[in-house]
Amino acid sequence: MDVGCGTGQTAAYLGVEYEAKVTGIDINPEMVAKAKRRMKKNRLPVKIMQCSIEQVPLRDDTFDFIISESVLSFVNKPNALKEIFRLLKNGGRLIAIEFTIHQPLDENIEKEILQFYGFDSCSMKKDWVALFKQAGFNNIRIQKNKSIFSIPELHYSKDIAPELYEIMDKHFAMNLQYEGILDYRIYSCTK
Ligand SMILES: C[S@@+](CC[C@H](N)C(=O)[O-])C[C@H]1O[C@@H](n2cnc3c(N)ncnc32)[C@H](O)[C@@H]1O
Repeated sequence: MDVGCGTGQTAAYLGVEYEAKVTGIDINPEMVAKAKRRMKKNRLPVKIMQCSIEQVPLRDDTFDFIISESVLSFVNKPNALKEIFRLLKNGGRLIAIEFTIHQPLDENIEKEILQFYGFDSCSMKKDWVALFKQAGFNNIRIQKNKSIFSIPELHYSKDIAPELYEIMDKHFAMNLQYEGILDYRIYSCTK
């Protein structure tokens, strides 16, 4: 399962490259529509559902792997991790790429980041580890690849309000301004 699959880029990749049976979920109806369009256009048997990771209408022990690319920071982390744990099969693995700070932040910088991104907190590695453990996960591994960033797949379209492009510009500007602070780690853990 690809949690917060957005337009379905990763879900499609996993389906094509690994012939994985993939389900993508996202809370945002526009993202869901775009992801569904992508799968239809490319004739991929990837199932796309609109729901929140905090409450997924699927049975326990459904997935071997769950991937989450920059999603957990935006949701209620304990609720989402509890649900991910429930949905994984025993021995199944969660791989999450998440915003991670290295040291407590200056109060004003933290406030700006929390307000802009709508996070409820800025988490350090130890905070993420505590959250994974609290949800019941084991074998927690943390890594950082030299570069995971590619040029984002941006399609300018009339469906997207102009102010959203301004928000995107501010996001890129914040990444430059807070380089080294707005960092990430890749977390992997098993049920
Ligand atoms: C930063 S985007 C990442 C999208 C995609 N994973 C990627 O890497 O391109 C965060 C995504 O999480 C989705 N999202 C936010 N809250 C969610 C929730 N509670 N349940 C499921 N998806 C959620 C958003 O709609 C958005 O598509």
